[in-house]
Amino acid sequence: MKHELVHGHSIPKIGFGMWRIGGDSFPDPKLDSTSLTALRTALEVGYTHFDTAESYAAGHSEELLGRAVRETNTKRESLFITTKISPEHLAYEQVFRSCENSLRRLQMEYVDLYLIHWPRAGMKLEETFRALNKLVKDGKVKHLGVSNFNLTLLKQAQSFAETPILTNQVPYSLPTRTYVDNGVLEYCQQNDILLTAYSPVKFRNLSSNKTLQSIAEAHAATPYQIALAWLVVQPRVITIPMSSNLQHIRENFEAAEIELSEEEFKTLSDLY
Ligand SMILES: NC(=O)c1ccc[n+]([C@@H]2O[C@H](COP(=O)([O-])OP(=O)(O)OC[C@H]3O[C@@H](n4cnc5c(N)ncnc54)[C@H](OP(=O)(O)O)[C@@H]3O)[C@@H](O)[C@H]2O)c1
Repeated sequence: MKHELVHGHSIPKIGFGMWRIGGDSFPDPKLDSTSLTALRTALEVGYTHFDTAESYAAGHSEELLGRAVRETNTKRESLFITTKISPEHLAYEQVFRSCENSLRRLQMEYVDLYLIHWPRAGMKLEETFRALNKLVKDGKVKHLGVSNFNLTLLKQAQSFAETPILTNQVPYSLPTRTYVDNGVLEYCQQNDILLTAYSPVKFRNLSSNKTLQSIAEAHAATPYQIALAWLVVQPRVITIPMSSNLQHIRENFEAAEIELSEEEFKTLSDLY
């Protein structure tokens, strides 16, 4: 797996997204068995970055991740766990409660990366960061980050955080360029901030696109892998595809090794 080195930390180019692991907005016990199999497979394949949130399956996604880690005897230090605080929990005291609840569900002592999941109108970002900074000092959280932040908010977050903002997690894929157009990607690349691309393969006609198909054939890969390879070849970009299909989990992990030529990269960049 290729990595991005940022502020002295090595973060894998491709991690494992966890939306819909264990349910969507609420826990769905019927999904537990497939979700746990997916997580165990991901750990076996070699994923070390897992991206969850307190809101995913109302916390059940965190519970399942903790369980899969324990059941596979995976060393905590070998993993990089991201979780997120929901916009309705950004008040000072609530930040501590949310973090404690996430740690209890994960059955872990700390999270590697704690993100503000979404900005909220009227949020008091300075107050939220006072609490987040304390979580870092107390060792409950190793790094801070944000998600779905535009450039103005990202700069504000940087000014309130006492440690570097490690990432802004945003939608980014071949057809989704909002955070390129609004200047966030360029700013991240110039300021040592990772851009974590979410929903990297969630778009229409991915597998039937002729250009993607022909580049995929040239690399003995799938169009999904090419869509991921296009993202992770970019400096400061990492991604977190989600899958509960065991073959897809493997293929997504291997996509980081695909070497696109400059011409292929350009063709893909101009595709949408
Ligand atoms: N911060 C935020 O606001 C935010 C928002 C959205 C998502 N996220 C994070 O980003 C992660 C990824 O985003 P996402 O789940 O929205 O979308 P995604 O990973 O782009 O797409 C997931 C879908 O693609 C399919 N898929 C994945 N790999 C495949 C492959 N190799 N071949 C064929 N199909 C494949 C999956 O189905 P199968 O299971 O059948 O493979 C699943 O239906 C989430 O899980 C979550 O952790 C964050």
